Parts: sequence; structure tokens; C-alpha cells
Amino acid sequence: MINRKKMIEETLDPKDWEEMRAIGHLMMDDMIDYLKDIKDKPVWKPIPEETKTFLKEELPEYGMNAKEIYAQFKTHILPYNKGNIHPRFWAWVQGTGTPMGVFGDFLASAMNPNVTIGEQSPMYVDQEVVNWCKQMMHFPESASGILLSGGSMANTTALIVARNHMIAFSRKEGMQGLALKPVMYCSSETHSCIAKAAEVIGVGTEGLRKISVNADYTINLESLEQTIRDDISKGYNPFCLVGNAGTVNTGAIDDLKALKLLCEKYDLWFHIDGAFGALAKLTDQYKEKLKPIEEADSVAFDLHKWMYMPYEVGCVLIRNKEAHRNAFSFAPNYLMTHEGGLASGPDSFNNFGIELSRGFKALKVWMSIKEQGIKKYAEQIEKNIQQAEYLTDLVNENNTLELLAPTSLNIVCFRFVNSDKTKEELNQLNKDIVMKLQVSGIASPSSTILGGNYAIRVAITNHRSITSDFDLLINETIKLGNSLL
Ligand SMILES: Cc1ncc(COP(=O)(O)O)c(C=O)c1O
Repeated sequence: MINRKKMIEETLDPKDWEEMRAIGHLMMDDMIDYLKDIKDKPVWKPIPEETKTFLKEELPEYGMNAKEIYAQFKTHILPYNKGNIHPRFWAWVQGTGTPMGVFGDFLASAMNPNVTIGEQSPMYVDQEVVNWCKQMMHFPESASGILLSGGSMANTTALIVARNHMIAFSRKEGMQGLALKPVMYCSSETHSCIAKAAEVIGVGTEGLRKISVNADYTINLESLEQTIRDDISKGYNPFCLVGNAGTVNTGAIDDLKALKLLCEKYDLWFHIDGAFGALAKLTDQYKEKLKPIEEADSVAFDLHKWMYMPYEVGCVLIRNKEAHRNAFSFAPNYLMTHEGGLASGPDSFNNFGIELSRGFKALKVWMSIKEQGIKKYAEQIEKNIQQAEYLTDLVNENNTLELLAPTSLNIVCFRFVNSDKTKEELNQLNKDIVMKLQVSGIASPSSTILGGNYAIRVAITNHRSITSDFDLLINETIKLGNSLL
């Protein structure tokens, strides 16, 4: 006899759909205004203690009205955004997003598919976006790829493939039975995610040889080759070389052609970290310099950086699809596919990466590229490169400012100088300038250290920036520098 006790029939859907529709419309309208008017707002604001306290609430036991939740969002969350939607945000390397990208994420959330397996349209959209990425990088049609949360995951995924392909049995045995210790190479300017990836794949930071750089921050080829030779003679197993298509500090592009030749000579997997720089391949100015990307075994790049997509979405492409699949494929019973029905469809994306559950991040990319067309993206990237050159000229023209690295791609590193100040005093002064620029809401550059000097670092992956934004940055920097003397 079935126990007919009272069953819970409630769902998490709204009781009043019309009320939910109204609040949804309000949110959409507000966010359109927010983006439309963002240029007139401060780039960044310090977060008041009241908001920090508010955001330490106890776990809510019972729900509250959607309108009230939205009011709290508007009071405590929206005003203290990071700011990378603003035209004068140039910190780290952060993209701007677009309204169509917002809609893409909204629609993807409403559909809410898990884009890993099955006969469902999102699988085909995802595949198509990866194919477009291959076309952007001029990778062969036979190559494979996967969309990931960002550059760190894209680089790590490539290095897992590199390890499993280049070091026999490493997938099965890990690093347990290796007679020769594996080593890999990159420059000292390479992003820290490569070191993390080296740790993840069992090579360890000690197995990652960080090669010195030239004055322009590109990898020193003589030193690289000498290190490879030394490693071979000492009985190590060199298996992978990571080239930079745009270093995070200064935008330096390694001599990728020479790196490719070294990879052929010493039988190394050639991976390129092109987190933002690879996309400059779309421009006339950089297409030749970045052409060797087409010859790499793998390349990682972010669509949320220089394709201005809302966070998060990055991509890795792998030339050898079989090597890619062999690195990750698993076929447990609960993921078996059928010749028809829901469990048919494209090869599961789980066979090409670590993640099983995946959101529909491809939709915002698909919609955005269709909205703008790839030529428009190339033009925006070109615009940011021009802006970096313009800013460089402004720095060079002013004798209170000094360029601290050659400008490459979209990154300008400079500082305020004064001959009466010591190096340490100048470091502190420039740090104060950066903080004051940020706190005043005028602009958000970030910083780095180059040759022991504190640098104001401007990385332009921002389609909203216009020329006058850079004039303002320079004027305010000089004004602040003089006032702090
Ligand atoms: C050159 C480079 N590689 C890798 C990364 C990491 O990318 P993500 O932050 O998307 O994980 C970055 C981030 O700025 C980068 O500039």
C-alpha cells in the first residue's frame, strides 16, 4: 500500500509570473542604461564598510521578495563593480563585454543546457564557435578545440595534452615510472598560469625552465637552446616549449618562428600562450608576426579579453585531434551514447577536457560574432593597438614621464619621473599615482615592476576607450605626480 502522506508540490518558479516578468524587464532596462551611461560614472569606487558588513549576512533561512533582492543588488553590489565595462579601465588584461554578450548569457541561462553530451542545439553551436576559432587562428579544419573558462584553463588543457602525447604512458602511470625527468621551457615573462599548469601535470616548477629575456622582454634564444642542450646532456627529457604571443607584463611577442624551428630540432611540443595577443592575428599590422601560430601544436587564447566577450570564455586549439582526445577520453556506462535519441549527437566534449558539466558560454560568442562580424573585431583590436601607440607618443613627448618597456600590441608601461627622487621614492610615488587615479574614479590602470622600477601599466582590451580617455590619463598622471612631489 502506497503511503499517501502529503507530498510537497511546490517548485522554485515564481507564484506570479507576471510580477517576475515586470522585475525582469526592469532589470533589463536598468542594465541597458547602466552600460549606455557608464562613461559618465567613476571607473571604480571604494566599497563602504556598510556594504562589506551587509555582505556578511547569515545564510537566509527563508526567501524574500524579488523586488527587495533587486533593491539590495542596486544598493550594495552594482555600484562597487570592478569597472572593466568602463572606457578608462585598463588594469590587468580585462575585456569590456557588450550588450549582445549580456543577452547571450541571459538566453543561455534561461535555456540552461549542460553542454557536454547529447543531441541538443547547444552542442552544435559550441562546435561551430570552436570552428570559427580555428578559422581565426588559421588552424586546419582537422584540428580540435574546446571552450573553457579562460586562458589559465586553456593553457593547462594544452599542457595536459602535450604531456600525455609526448611522454609515453604518462596518462596511465603518471610520472611514477619515468626513467628520464620531463622538462619544459618558457620565458621568465610567461604568465604564472603556465607554472601552475607545470605543477598540475606533474612536471613541477623545478621542471619548468624559465629562460631569461632580451631587452624587449622576448625569450633569449641562445640561452633557450643552451638550456635544452644542457638538459639533454644531463639526462632530462625535454618535451614542450611554451611561446608567448603577448606577455602579460609588456605584450612582448617571442620569436615564434625561431621557437617553432627549435621545437622541430629537439622534438618538442610547441604550445603558444596567446591569451590576448593571439587575437591580434586578425589585424594587418600583426598578422605576419603572429603567423607561426598556424604552425603550433596548440594555442590558448581568451575571448573574454580581446574579443570583448562577457566573462568567462577562453579557447584552446589542438592541431592533433587524436592526441587531444586520447588525453581525456573516458567512456563510463553512465555517459554511453546511442545511435539515436537524446544520447546521440556530437562526440562528448568531456572527451576533450577535464570538465564534465559545461555551461552554454558558446551562445554569447556565437551571437556576438554574428552581430559584429569578424572584421569589426579586427578593427577594434587595431584601434586598441593604435591607442597604445598614441599613449606611447604622449609619454615620450613629456619629459616628466618615462616609458619603461617598448610598447608591443596593446600594453604601455610608463612612470612619472623626477630627477630629485631616488628609485625607491619614485616607486612609491608612482604607486601613489596609480592608487589615486583609481580612488578618484578617473582611470584604472594597474601596475608591474620592470627592472626594479614600479610601472604604471595600461593594457587596452577595451572597445569603449576613445582617444580623449588617454589624454585625460596623461594629464591627470602628471597633475598627480606634481602634486605628490
Ligand atoms: C598572457 C596571459 N596568459 C594567461 C592568462 C590567464 O588568463 P585567464 O585570466 O583568462 O585565466 C593571462 C591573463 O591575463 C595572460 O595575460
